[in-house]
Amino acid sequence: MGIVLGIESSCDETAVALVTTEREIVSQRIASQIEAHAPYGGVVPEIAARAHAEKLAPMIAEVMDEADLELADLDAIAATAGPGLIGGVMVGLVSAKALAMASDVPLIAINHLEGHALSPRLADASLEFPYALLLVSGGHCQILRVEGVGQYRRLATTIDDALGEAFDKTAKILGLGYPGGPAVEKLALEGDAKAVPLPRPLVGSGEPHFSFAGLKSAVMRAQQSGEHSDADLAASFQQAAIDCLLDRLRVSLDASEPMPALVVAGGVAANAAIRSALEGFAAKHDMRFVAPPMALCTDNAAMIAWAGAERLALGQSDPLDFVARPRWPL
Ligand code: KG4
Ligand code: ZN
Repeated sequence: MGIVLGIESSCDETAVALVTTEREIVSQRIASQIEAHAPYGGVVPEIAARAHAEKLAPMIAEVMDEADLELADLDAIAATAGPGLIGGVMVGLVSAKALAMASDVPLIAINHLEGHALSPRLADASLEFPYALLLVSGGHCQILRVEGVGQYRRLATTIDDALGEAFDKTAKILGLGYPGGPAVEKLALEGDAKAVPLPRPLVGSGEPHFSFAGLKSAVMRAQQSGEHSDADLAASFQQAAIDCLLDRLRVSLDASEPMPALVVAGGVAANAAIRSALEGFAAKHDMRFVAPPMALCTDNAAMIAWAGAERLALGQSDPLDFVARPRWPL
């Protein structure tokens, strides 16, 4: 059995975790910066980088103490090396490099999206390759065919906004503040999903891609018309998003070799209405539906440590001069 320290600092969560190759999360800490960014209605990169720099070292010390481990006991140190806000990514990656060098432990540079893509395998030991992955977060909206560790085939992506971004912008339009996804989901529970006519961009198109910019603009126009309640707007927006997801999934999967499981990951996967719609879709298409627990859906370090553990099992590691990559497609 091996044990991997994971470090995540690519956006607004500073996170560290110790995860074993046997899928045990031994210890973890997550420090959210939501309060620091909330006054600005979104993540401010400079504030994020400074907060990561302040929090990371004491958090690493805490998880190591809790697990009663020395650095030299680790089998690898895995850190997010991109994509994300470069200042924050640098803080995490440079810390990982320093610890790896000081303790002579291998460094594993993880693509944040790979962390999300493999996270369902941390929660579910029976999930085997290949699987269809719907990756929906604040920065990304993709459908991938996950064929193995490091083997990802992109079937669809967004041509403008990510789905989480659309939720966040809708929240802003409705005056719900940041982060918007959970607030829109909560308000939608009180609204009528059929009340506001909204577009379903690209639905019906043979191309598998997503587009959410037009949907967000339509929400803004509908809000400005003053004819609808905020709850109806939230519910109708969420329903339009779900309709787009299901249609785009259908087109993507039709064009690919069959896959036994549909997996959802990324922050938007925390949305219960989206989860249940996907569950129905999977049942209809004879696929097993797998969604990691909420805490593994939003940004966390256990998924980074786990991606490291998967790479470690294949004998992979990275050189200490690995360069951070603010843009890094899977
Ligand atoms: O994966 P994540 O934590 O960070 C990124 O890598 O982007 O995803 C954050 C995104 C935000 O846009 C947030 O509004 C969205 O996930 N989100 C949700 C929900 N919880 C988080 N969107 C819809 N419903 C939710 N319950
Ligand atoms: Zn993420």
